[in-house]
Amino acid sequence: MAGRIRTAKSLGQRHDFHYFQRWGRWRFLRAFLMIAVPAIAGLWLLGFALHHDSEPYASGPLSTVHSFTGKRCGTCHRPVIEAGFLKVGFRQHVDDAACLSCHQAPAHQALQTFTPTCASCHVEHTGSQHLRQTADETCVQCHGELKVKSGSPRYQTAIYDFDKKHPEFAPLRTGFGDPGTIKLNHSVHMRAGLLGPNAQPVQMQCQDCHRTPADQSAPWKYGESRLLQTSLQSGSSADPHNPAMPEEPTRPGIGRAYMAAPTYASACQNCHALQFDSHFTESAPHDKPQVVHDFIVRRLTEYIHQHPEAIHETPRPLRVMFGGTISREPQTPRIARSADEWVRIHTEDAENLLWRKTCQECHTLRFSPNQTTDSSALPEVAPSQIKAVWLPNSVFSHYAHAGVNCQSCHTKALASTETQDVLIPSITTCQQCHNGNPVKLGQSENGCFLCHQYHNWKQSRGPFIPTHAMDQLRGAAPQRPSTEGIVASQLFLP
Ligand code: HEC
Ligand code: HEC
Ligand code: HEC
Ligand code: HEC
Ligand code: HEC
Ligand code: HEC
Ligand code: HEC
Ligand code: HEC
Ligand code: HEC
Ligand code: HEC
Repeated sequence: MAGRIRTAKSLGQRHDFHYFQRWGRWRFLRAFLMIAVPAIAGLWLLGFALHHDSEPYASGPLSTVHSFTGKRCGTCHRPVIEAGFLKVGFRQHVDDAACLSCHQAPAHQALQTFTPTCASCHVEHTGSQHLRQTADETCVQCHGELKVKSGSPRYQTAIYDFDKKHPEFAPLRTGFGDPGTIKLNHSVHMRAGLLGPNAQPVQMQCQDCHRTPADQSAPWKYGESRLLQTSLQSGSSADPHNPAMPEEPTRPGIGRAYMAAPTYASACQNCHALQFDSHFTESAPHDKPQVVHDFIVRRLTEYIHQHPEAIHETPRPLRVMFGGTISREPQTPRIARSADEWVRIHTEDAENLLWRKTCQECHTLRFSPNQTTDSSALPEVAPSQIKAVWLPNSVFSHYAHAGVNCQSCHTKALASTETQDVLIPSITTCQQCHNGNPVKLGQSENGCFLCHQYHNWKQSRGPFIPTHAMDQLRGAAPQRPSTEGIVASQLFLP
């Protein structure tokens, strides 16, 4: 510092008080940026305008499904007249009618207190591949504190997210049990070394009894041989009614969401035969008691006509597969005196066996009050009521979870001994995977849209009648068609 003399004057002389009047390098650049760039941008926009192209105004790229509309912004944005010019009205909200000119999208619930706009849930101009992935907030705005137009809500009223604030699924919450009437002990059938056909020990798999409709025609190990043959001959697992039809290659999941109800023919028959008389190896048909009765009478009548010598033989006990032999009531030595009587006695015996034991093994039979006095009165089989869909208020797909074994979701199945047990998984099972954002490692999608339908698709009215001409979408014709009539019909509510 020493040696330098500073006075206010010498310091003041260092400043140039006319600097703002000089045109320096930076000043030229600034002026250029202020005037030339907007001018170029203006020319650029003018260029687009001359080509009837509004793309530069877009707030982001269109979703991939809608990108085909290209520069025809008027497909969604209603055209307006401004200062005598026909323009696309970006300042107005896209109205639902625009969407409904291409889509059938029935509203949610008759009792909802208001209807959000399409665009509030399906957010455009984010370039998103999946417009259907709507944010949870769009549902929570109502389901956080559910209100209905009239009466009181039928569903849980405070749902916020799947992980923490979502109710347990209704069938597990209410404790009503399985309404099915077919007696089935899962634990017995999944036991190692269960006796299979010809008394050979087997290890059953869940899939031996449970399959999706799409897999029905593949061979059934313990089912009807006819089912087995059809599928072996055709070599196809597509449509069981039309084996020649190949499976749709791009949508193999069709018919693979839910399990079909197990049937006697596909899942039980080879181990639980319906033997009815020691003279026959064949089984009675698995059908209504009247059909079974008619069959037995017909087969016995045929037999005794071909073998008249059998009338006077002592009845033989019938060997049945499980539980050894069924002996006839010893107090009644029932030797027939005529063919008719032989048929009557054998029918009675056969039906006694079926109605009182064989059918009852799996069914509940209702006997008519006069059953004890009138042995020809037939019992009624209770409807089986095997549920095909347990959670009707959500969607589910077994196909999407094909990589997980059955019992890790149906944790109670292996130990279940009663039909009444509810075996579908609890919400805690789902939460182990569906716990957040799939972008993060160890997490899987848990947005409401994954498991629920907002639109009441059943309300879709018949086939959709499109109103756009190809020329309009391609740009040859400028205007959007009138959608007045469409809105009324597409927004139908019960
Ligand atoms: C498939 C229908 C669709 C098409 C086609 C479409 N948009 Fe949009 N656009 C929307 C929706 C939906 C919104 C959200 C507006 C709202 O809230 O109603 C929107 C919003 C906008 C906004 C913001 C407006 C505001 O109020 O924030 C601009 C700007 C815009 N669009 C420009 C364009 C341009 C430019 C094109 C043509 C390249 C275009 N859009 C094509 C559906 C569409
Ligand atoms: C010009 C006709 C047209 C208009 C207008 C239109 N869409 Fe679409 N939209 C389509 C087509 C085509 C698809 C693809 C169909 C498909 O994949 O099944 C599609 C697909 C969708 C999908 C399914 C996307 C997905 O991720 O699977 C949604 C949701 C959708 N549109 C909502 C809307 C909404 C909301 C509007 C109004 C802002 C709208 N669309 C306007 C033609 C249109
Ligand atoms: C405008 C309000 C509103 C919005 C938004 C809304 N809901 Fe609902 N939701 C209702 C009403 C009202 C009911 C029926 C209540 C009743 O009948 O007791 C209902 C019923 C349901 C049900 C049970 C009945 C059924 O049909 O399955 C589910 C599940 C459901 N909503 C899911 C959703 C999902 C997922 C979303 C978001 C995509 C959503 N909701 C958005 C009002 C709404
Ligand atoms: C090994 C178990 C088993 C035995 C034994 C059995 N069934 Fe069934 N039955 C089933 C199953 C499983 C169903 C439900 C699916 C189907 O149609 O096969 C069923 C369904 C029925 C139905 C239709 C019920 C409805 O839902 O309306 C009738 C009728 C019927 N059985 C009659 C009989 C008769 C009669 C017998 C005795 C001759 C018999 N079943 C023996 C397993 C059995
Ligand atoms: C692989 C052979 C096999 C198949 C297939 C099979 N079962 Fe069984 N089932 C058995 C055997 C063996 C027993 C006797 C088990 C025992 O008591 O140790 C049995 C016993 C039963 C019992 C009595 C269970 C108990 O609690 O003791 C019922 C009811 C029954 N089966 C129903 C069915 C029905 C319904 C089907 C078809 C959906 C079916 N079974 C398919 C082999 C089979
Ligand atoms: C990711 C968990 C999960 C796995 C793995 C799973 N299930 Fe399920 N299963 C469910 C759910 C959830 C339901 C209730 C679906 C409904 O009916 O709404 C269900 C329902 C069922 C039903 C009742 C009928 C139906 O489809 O609704 C049967 C039978 C069944 N599952 C058998 C199986 C078998 C067999 C396997 C293995 C091949 C299996 N499940 C694997 C979750 C699972
Ligand atoms: C991983 C799948 C899944 C997700 C994610 C999910 N839910 Fe559910 N939700 C279900 C199942 C399964 C049921 C039971 C349906 C039934 O009982 O028929 C259910 C039931 C419901 C019900 C009916 C409740 C009742 O009273 O029985 C409503 C309302 C509902 N969910 C709304 C929502 C909302 C809102 C979201 C997003 C915050 C959501 N869910 C996320 C699977 C899911
Ligand atoms: C012998 C055939 C058989 C086998 C093997 C079998 N099931 Fe079942 N399952 C049935 C029958 C029949 C029903 C319908 C009776 C009823 O309503 O419980 C049923 C019902 C079910 C249901 C729906 C009923 C409910 O209460 O939730 C589920 C889920 C199920 N089984 C899962 C399984 C799983 C998982 C396995 C393998 C660990 C398995 N089953 C093995 C025959 C079988
Ligand atoms: C082992 C992990 C796991 C478990 C447990 C699990 N999920 Fe999933 N789930 C997945 C994966 C992974 C997908 C595919 C995710 C996707 O498409 O983003 C999926 C997809 C789904 C889908 C969409 C199906 C489709 O067709 O795209 C639904 C609905 C669903 N899960 C419901 C459930 C329910 C309800 C439960 C409980 C019973 C459950 N999941 C249990 C891993 C699981
Ligand atoms: C409260 C939010 C919400 C509103 C409002 C809404 N959607 Fe949706 N939309 C959904 C959800 C969630 C799905 C996926 C589940 C389903 O299929 O219902 C969906 C599915 C769709 C699909 C089928 C996508 C596919 O999977 O192919 C179309 C198309 C669609 N919406 C169009 C519309 C149109 C048009 C409107 C306005 C009239 C509208 N949505 C209003 C939430 C909504």
